[in-house]
Amino acid sequence: MPLVRKFNREDLEKVHEIASLSLKERYPKELYLSIKRAWREGFLVADVGGNLAGFICGIKEENMMSRILMLAVHPLYRNRSIGSELLKNFIEVSSRSGFNSVILEVRVSNTQTIGFYQKRGFQIIDRLDSFYTDGEDGYKMIRYL
Ligand SMILES: CC(C)(COP(=O)(O)OP(=O)(O)OC[C@H]1O[C@@H](n2cnc3c(N)ncnc32)[C@H](O)[C@@H]1OP(=O)(O)O)[C@@H](O)C(=O)NCCC(=O)NCCS
Repeated sequence: MPLVRKFNREDLEKVHEIASLSLKERYPKELYLSIKRAWREGFLVADVGGNLAGFICGIKEENMMSRILMLAVHPLYRNRSIGSELLKNFIEVSSRSGFNSVILEVRVSNTQTIGFYQKRGFQIIDRLDSFYTDGEDGYKMIRYL
């Protein structure tokens, strides 16, 4: 099992690398630091034997919701339950913070990840036209806590 802990400034390079390897969108490094400043408890990393294997980050929304902005596991560490552990910890933090649901957006083509979320209690509640910068639609998903 990975050690799941809060993101630190020293994790920035590795988090940026994992995001670049895993996600189609490109983000500036400064974005991760502003996410950390906005809600430190909602930015978690998975450490496997001293190596940073994945991360999850999110923000607080209105109406007692938290929102996952990114979840990514390094390709070499996938299918070892690291994504599940990160998601579980994010849900626990959201619960402890008094939120009543967790929302996220995912590309409609990302069927494997949509299934991953559905198996873990999320359901699709909306389709978002041209949500991504390349014009692809997204699904909005929610898990009630
Ligand atoms: C989605 C993502 C974070 C999942 O991370 P992960 O660490 O591979 O996730 P897990 O290992 O917990 O679960 C993946 C699957 O492997 C299975 N699995 C878990 N441990 C396993 C093991 N030891 N051996 C074989 N399979 C295993 C799980 O059952 C799960 O399958 P399921 O969804 O059918 O239950 C990862 O694939 C990723 O980074 N994808 C690219 C980025 C992305 O799409 N992010 C989401 C954008 S919103």
